[in-house]
Amino acid sequence: MADPTDLLSPTLLSGKTAFVTGGGSGINLGIAATFARLGAAVAICGRSQERLDGAAEKLRALGAKVCAVAADVRDPAAVTDAFARSADELGPASVVVSGAAGNFVAPAEKISPNGFRTVVDIDLLGSWHTASAAFQQLRETRGTLLFISAAQASVPFAYQAHVGAAKAGVDHLMRNLALEWSRYGIRCNSIAPGPIADTEGMRRLEQAADKDTWLKMIPLGRYGAAEEIGVMASVLASPLGGFVTGAHIVVDGGQGLMGSSTFNDAVAATLNASPR
Ligand code: COA
Ligand code: NAP
Repeated sequence: MADPTDLLSPTLLSGKTAFVTGGGSGINLGIAATFARLGAAVAICGRSQERLDGAAEKLRALGAKVCAVAADVRDPAAVTDAFARSADELGPASVVVSGAAGNFVAPAEKISPNGFRTVVDIDLLGSWHTASAAFQQLRETRGTLLFISAAQASVPFAYQAHVGAAKAGVDHLMRNLALEWSRYGIRCNSIAPGPIADTEGMRRLEQAADKDTWLKMIPLGRYGAAEEIGVMASVLASPLGGFVTGAHIVVDGGQGLMGSSTFNDAVAATLNASPR
C-alpha cells in the first residue's frame, strides 16, 4: 500500500513541535513518524529510555529534531518534567498526542483491583496528567490535543472491561476539555483506530481471537497501517482540521459497524470460557 503521507504537503507541520506519549513504538511511533515527515519537531516519552532512543534514531533519519525523554504517564511530576525538557529543546508543543496505554486480555472476574487500576491509571489518569502538563504550552501555541481511543470505548468487548472503562473515560475527558479549552484556542479530539498491523495491541488481542476472526469483523477486509492513523492525526493537528473539536474520529475500516459478537464468540472458543 502506498504511504498516504506522500499525499500531504511535506511542510504541513513545519515550525510545530509535537509531543507524543507512548511514542516509542507501534501506532504512536507511526504518528510521530508521520509528523516528522511533515516537518514537525517531535518529543516522545515512554517508560523505557532504550526503546525511546531506538525510536528517536528512526525519527531523526526522517529529518526531525527529536527529544526522547523517559516518563511514566502515571507520575504527574515526571510528565511535567518531560514537557519542560521538550519545551527547552524544541520549543512549546503545539500538538500533543496522548497515546500511552496498557492492555491485557482477562475475564472481568479475574481482573484484580490492581490490574483494573493499572490500566485506568495508564490510559485515563495518564491522559489527564498529559493534558494538565501540556496546558500552558498549548495555551501559548493555541495548539491541539489528540487522545488515542479504541473501539472498546464505544462497544463492550469480552475480557476488556478495564480497557473499555478507561478508554470511555478518555473520550469523555476529551469532550470536556474541548468544551472548556476552546476559549484558549485549544482543539481536542480523539482517534479510535481499528485493528492496526504489526502492533503490540493486536498481538495481545490475537491471543483471544486470531487474525482471520478479526478480518471477518472488518468490512474493508484488512488491518490498517500506523501511517493511516498518522495522516488522520496530522489533518486534525493542522489547519486542515481547524474547525474540528470535540470529535471522536473512527479510523477502523468499518469494524465499529460490526459490533463485538464475532470477537466475543471467538474469545469463548479460544479461552474455553463463555463470556455470557
Ligand atoms: N491478566 C490478569 N491480570 C494481569 C495481567 C493479565 N494478563 N497482566 C497484568 N495483570 C495484573 C497484574 O497481576 C497486576 O495485578 P496484581 O498486583 O493484583 O497481581 C497488575 O495487572 C499490574 O501488573 P504489572 O505487571 O505490575 O503492571 P505494569 O505497570 O508493570 O505493566 C501492564 C502494565 C500490565 C498493562 C503491561 O502489560 C504493560 O506494560 N503494557 C504496555 C504495553 C501494552 O499493553 N500495549 C498494548 C497497547 S494498549
Ligand atoms: P504499544 O506499541 O504497546 O504502545 C503503547 C506505548 O505506550 C508503548 O510505547 C509503551 O512504551 C507506552 N507506555 C505504556 N505504559 C506507559 C506508561 N505507564 N507511561 C508511559 N508510556 C507508557 O501498542 P499499540 O498497539 O501501538 O497501541 C498504541 C495506542 O493505540 C494505545 O493507546 C492503544 O490503546 C491504541 N489502540 C491500538 C490499536 C491496535 O490495533 N494496536 C487499536 C485501537 C487502539 P513503554 O513500554 O516503554 O512504556
